[in-house]
Amino acid sequence: MPSGKADSIVILRAARLAELAELSLLCLRSKAVWDYSPEVIAACRAELTLGPGDLETTRVAERRGHPVGVVQVTVGGRTASLDRIFVEPHDIGTGVGTILFAEARTMARDAGAKELVVIADPGAAGFFIRMGARPAGEVPSGSVPGLVLPRFALALPG
Ligand SMILES: CC(C)(COP(=O)(O)OP(=O)(O)OC[C@H]1O[C@@H](n2cnc3c(N)ncnc32)[C@H](O)[C@@H]1OP(=O)(O)O)[C@@H](O)C(=O)NCCC(=O)NCCS
Repeated sequence: MPSGKADSIVILRAARLAELAELSLLCLRSKAVWDYSPEVIAACRAELTLGPGDLETTRVAERRGHPVGVVQVTVGGRTASLDRIFVEPHDIGTGVGTILFAEARTMARDAGAKELVVIADPGAAGFFIRMGARPAGEVPSGSVPGLVLPRFALALPG
C-alpha cells in the first residue's frame, strides 16, 4: 500500500534474499547517525546483519525504487518484539519511521500479539514516545558493554 506525499511515495514490501547484504549496510549506516565510535559500530555489525532466517519477519520501505528503511518484528505469544527499525540517514525525518512503525504494529497484531516491545537506541527514545509507546524499564546492551538501553512497550488493542 503506497503512503506519503505524491512525489515521494513509500512502498512497503517483503525483504528479498538478494538484498540482505545491502539492507544490513543500511542498518549500519542508520545506527551510525548517533555518532557512535567506529568500535561501537563494529561491535553492532553482527547484531545488525540480516540472514535468510530474517526474511519472514522483515519488511522494507522503498522510495523511488530504493530501500529507505527496514523493520523487523518477531512474535512470541502475546508479546511481539520490534527487533529493528532503521531509516536510511538521508531519509530520516521524512516520515519513513512512522510508516515502518505502523507496519510493525500491523505485523504484531496480525500475529495475535497484544503488546509490542522495543529495546531502543537511546537516541531514538523520543521517536517511540511519539509513536505512543510507554517506557518499560532498561536493558543492558548485548553488543556494547556498559551501555544501558531504554525499553518501551505499546499495547495493541484487539
Ligand atoms: C528513529 C527513526 C527510526 C525514526 O524515523 P524517522 O523516519 O526519522 O521518523 P519520522 O520522520 O516518521 O518522525 C515521526 C515523528 O517522530 C519524531 N522523531 C523522530 N525521531 C525522533 C527522535 N530521535 N527523537 C525524538 N523525536 C523523534 C519526529 O519529529 C516526528 O514527530 P512529528 O510527527 O511531531 O513531526 C530514525 O531516526 C532512525 O532510523 N534512526 C537511526 C537508527 C535508530 O536509532 N533506529 C532505532 C533503533 S531502536
